[in-house]
Amino acid sequence: MNAVPGPRGWPLLGSLPDLTRDSPGFWMDLATRYGTVAVFRSGVETCHLVSDPALVGSLFQHDTQCCYKGRHTQRLASLLGEGLALLNGPPWRQRRQLLQPAFGRRPVSRWLDIVTAAWESQVPVWDEAAAHGQPVEMVTDLLRLTQEIIVHILFGRSVQHQVTAPILGAVDTLNRHLLRHLLREMVLGGRLNRWPLPSTRRFQTALATLHATLDGLIAGRNEGDQDEEALVAFLSNARDERTDARLTPAQIRDELIHFFLAGQETTAVALAWVIHYLTTQPTWAEEVASEADQMLSGRFPTIGDLSRLALTHRVINESLRLTPPAYGIGRRTSIAVELGGWRIPAESVVIVSPYVMHRHPDYWDSPTRFDPHRFSPSHPQPPRPRYTYFPFGGGPRRCLGRHLAMMEMLAITAQLARRYRFHRVPGPRVVPRGGMTLRPHPGVRVRLSLR
Ligand code: HEM
Repeated sequence: MNAVPGPRGWPLLGSLPDLTRDSPGFWMDLATRYGTVAVFRSGVETCHLVSDPALVGSLFQHDTQCCYKGRHTQRLASLLGEGLALLNGPPWRQRRQLLQPAFGRRPVSRWLDIVTAAWESQVPVWDEAAAHGQPVEMVTDLLRLTQEIIVHILFGRSVQHQVTAPILGAVDTLNRHLLRHLLREMVLGGRLNRWPLPSTRRFQTALATLHATLDGLIAGRNEGDQDEEALVAFLSNARDERTDARLTPAQIRDELIHFFLAGQETTAVALAWVIHYLTTQPTWAEEVASEADQMLSGRFPTIGDLSRLALTHRVINESLRLTPPAYGIGRRTSIAVELGGWRIPAESVVIVSPYVMHRHPDYWDSPTRFDPHRFSPSHPQPPRPRYTYFPFGGGPRRCLGRHLAMMEMLAITAQLARRYRFHRVPGPRVVPRGGMTLRPHPGVRVRLSLR
C-alpha cells in the first residue's frame, strides 16, 4: 500500500497555521491537490482528510467499531462532562437509545409552540428596526432567538429570565473559548491549557457558574409546577429499558450543557446563512415569501404546514450545502483502517468535511452557485452518491437534533420571508469562516422592510 500523499507543513506546527487561518479553505485545497485521502500534520497530530463519498460512507457505517471521539474530545469531556456527543462504545449506545425517543420528528413537534413564542418576542425588535430603516445583525439576533428556544425546550415554557441569564452568559463564554482550548490541545499536547492563563480562568469560572446554576435547577425540579415536556423532565424520568438505570443529576447536567453547545449556535448560524442567500438573491426571497403566503394564510406555521413548504425546504438544503455549520467531522481510528487502498494507522485523526464534499466538482454542477433547484425531484441531474450531502453527519452518530433544527429553520425562514424584505447593507463581502461552526464573516447585516 502506498504512503498517503499530503503537504509537509512547517516544522513542529505542521499545517496548523493554515488550519487556524482558514480550515475549510485548507481542506478544499487538500482535496483538490491530493484526491480522495490526504494526510497532514496539525501540531503533534497526524490527520487524514477523506473526500470520497464511498469512503465517507464506509467510515460512517463502521464508525463506532473502527473510530472513536478521540483524545481531544476526551479532554473536552473531562472539562465539560460526558454528554452523548463525546461518549464512545457501549456507554454512547445506551445513552443514544435513552435520548432518541425525545428527538424523533413527531416528538419534537411538541416544541413548535416554543419556536412560535420566541418568534413573537423577537418580531417587535425587527419591526422597530424596519420602521427606522436601521440595519440588523442577523447572526446576533438569531443567536438570541435560538437561545430563547433552547432554554425553553430544556427547562420548560415558564422558566424565568433571571434563572437562565447566568446560564446563557456562561454558555456564551464556553462557546467563545472552546475552539482555542481545542487548538491548544493539538500544540504541546494541551500543556498550555493547564497554565493559569486569563482565558483558561474565564473558561473555568464560566463552567463553575454553569454547574452551580444547573445543579440548582435540577435539584429544585420537584418544587412547584413543572413543565413535563421540558427536556430536563424527560432526562430525569428516562430509564434504561434493560437495566432500569436512570441518569444521575450530574449526567443530566452534562447533557443539558451539551445540548446548548450542539444545538444553539449551529441552528442560528444555519439560519443566518439562509438570510444571507435570500438577501443576495432576492428572487428566491420572493419565492419563499409567496410559498408562505399560499400555504400559511397569515398564521404561524403548524406542523402540518411545515411539510408543505417544499421550496423553503430546498432553499434551506441548498444553504446547508454551500455553508454547512458543521463543516468538519473528526474521529480517531481505534484500529488500523484500509480506505480505498490507503492504510490509515490506528490512533490517527480522520476528518470528513461536509463543506468539501458539498462543493466537490465531480458531484455538483457549478458547485459554488446557490441553486435550490438542485434539490427538486424534477432536477435533471443524475442521482448523486449518498455521502455527497450530509449536513447532519451520517451513520449511527448522525445528528440527534436534526428534526428539531429543521423544524426551527423551516418555521422561522418562512415567517421572516413572509413578513420582511431583506436589503443589502454596503460592506465587506461575506465569507465563510471556520470556528466551532462555519460562521458568515463579518456577519449578516441587513436592512429589513415590512412587506
Ligand atoms: C442546523 C443545525 C445543526 C447542524 C448542522 C448539526 C450538525 C450535526 C452533525 C454534523 C453531527 C454529527 C457530529 C459527528 O458525527 O461527530 C451532530 C451531532 C449531534 N447533534 Fe447536531 N446539528 C444541528 C442541530 C442540533 C440540535 C438543535 C441539537 C439538539 C438540541 C443537536 C444535537 C446533536 C447531538 C446530541 C449530536 C451528537 C450525536 C451522537 O454523537 O450520537 N444538533 N450534529
